[in-house]
Amino acid sequence: MIKKCLFPAAGYGTRFLPATKATPKEMLPVLTKPLIQYGVEEAVQAGITMMAIITGRGKRAIEDHFDISYELEHQIKGSSKEYLLDEIRSLIDTCTFSYTRQVEMKGLGHAILIGETLIGTEPFAVILADDLCDGDVLEQMKQLYNKYRCSIVAIEEVPREETNKYGVIAGKQIEEDVYMVNTMVEKPAPEEAPSNLAIIGRYILTPDIFDILRETKPGKGGEIQITDALMTQAQRGMVLAYKFKGRRFDCGSVDGFVEATNYFYNLEKSKQ
Ligand code: UTP
Repeated sequence: MIKKCLFPAAGYGTRFLPATKATPKEMLPVLTKPLIQYGVEEAVQAGITMMAIITGRGKRAIEDHFDISYELEHQIKGSSKEYLLDEIRSLIDTCTFSYTRQVEMKGLGHAILIGETLIGTEPFAVILADDLCDGDVLEQMKQLYNKYRCSIVAIEEVPREETNKYGVIAGKQIEEDVYMVNTMVEKPAPEEAPSNLAIIGRYILTPDIFDILRETKPGKGGEIQITDALMTQAQRGMVLAYKFKGRRFDCGSVDGFVEATNYFYNLEKSKQ
């Protein structure tokens, strides 16, 4: 049973400077909702209510967002705008939020290891909120986890020339859209990439990943890479890669962010 979702949200978000100088990247809004709220909603959709968030210096706005603002509530109570807080209020009522800080930003793998104190010894989900998904990606992965009980990474096909932006896998297809991973490389050059199947920001991890991360040396870019730890896990046991159904936007990049904004805007308009 997956009960907790970890949100590594300590990165500097340098591609969005100067916006991210004093505002966490995860708080940038697509329409009226910050990226991290979409992530929390996706976790709730998968039946998860315990959110574990890795923050860092300058990220306090995330904690304030998932808390009641009495002054604001008082101000808009009874007005026509009160409904605008309905969704966030319902998340605050349904979920618990725990936080810990990554003091030195040593990479995604390191951020996940910092999360051990919030997760403990159970399997858990990971959402990178800057990968915004339309679709119940985590729910799909959870169903696969219930069948195979091992770590799972979400993948999608990317153009060959973009493999250097992602962790890339290769493996044996064991059922439709499911691969047993035998190779995993972080940000390979197109000519060195084992495939064009790129890992996106959704994972289900078994807790032995923490011991592996403790032993994992800094890799690409001098950072502790979750991809390297998952490769070790795949060699010791089994890691699956799952080609999810749905759409993903790389909101860590300006192009992806604009694309997501247009997509969700048109989606909202079509509902009206
Ligand atoms: P990114 O590679 O997107 O890095 O991290 P970043 O710092 O957020 O953004 P840029 O590249 O400087 O623009 C992927 C995810 O891992 C988290 C980030 O918050 C993001 O969700 N992360 C990364 C950490 O929590 N800690 C780290 O040390 C590195």
